[in-house]
Amino acid sequence: MRRDTTSPVDGPAGTPDNTATEADRDALWRVLRARRDHRHFRPDPVPPEILKRLLGVFDVAPSVGLSQPWQVTVVTRPELKEAVYASFAGVRQEERERFAGGRRERYDALKLDGIREAPVGLLVSFLPPQEATLGTTSMSAALEYSVVSAITLLWLAATAEGLGLGWVSLVRPAELRRLLDLPDRAQPLAYLCLGYPALELWEPLLQTVGWDTRKPLEVEWK
Ligand SMILES: Cc1cc2nc3c(=O)[nH]c(=O)nc-3n(C[C@H](O)[C@H](O)[C@H](O)COP(=O)(O)O)c2cc1C
Repeated sequence: MRRDTTSPVDGPAGTPDNTATEADRDALWRVLRARRDHRHFRPDPVPPEILKRLLGVFDVAPSVGLSQPWQVTVVTRPELKEAVYASFAGVRQEERERFAGGRRERYDALKLDGIREAPVGLLVSFLPPQEATLGTTSMSAALEYSVVSAITLLWLAATAEGLGLGWVSLVRPAELRRLLDLPDRAQPLAYLCLGYPALELWEPLLQTVGWDTRKPLEVEWK
């Protein structure tokens, strides 16, 4: 496994510009609406400069106490993807038992990963800080939330690049830690499949196939 010890990012060019135009706002909403969880990928590689730009998201993402408690492992070797897939397949087998009757049949028909097809896998791990972190006294989970919020930004940035990203949570963290030779303190949090999408999705795939539907937000005003 190759390890980059320096940041893969050159840093954003120029000074921050916070003067969003109407076109910027529209573009952002286009990306927000276009973002989908993808499980079907074309074999085309992800150009290295685009991957590098995407990983730059971690250098602009928020994190509690500026802790940046994450580690990213880029997975491209087919044998490693196969091993991650084996972990997924085991969890999927276990999860199907939680559904009964027709629901279980429908579960079996779902495509829930693109681990082998996606040209790139990104394992994002939570690295608990070794020192006290500002902002985590009453809510230690804020550290994990920080990792998740960075992933969300990555998801949007990937969409803006015309790439598809699929989040796979049906994996066993300890297995992934061993397979990818991560330090003991790394807690694998998300395995992300990245590549050019093979399917255009206008709504969540789980909605298209009739598993569930998106519900509107209910807001309480007090
Ligand atoms: C934390 C998290 C874990 C997820 N894990 C999986 C997964 O293991 N397999 C899968 O097919 N989709 C997974 N998804 C994708 C969701 O199913 C998807 O976001 C949801 O159906 C809405 O679809 P959309 O993202 O296209 O809007 C996950 C999403 C999140 C946020």
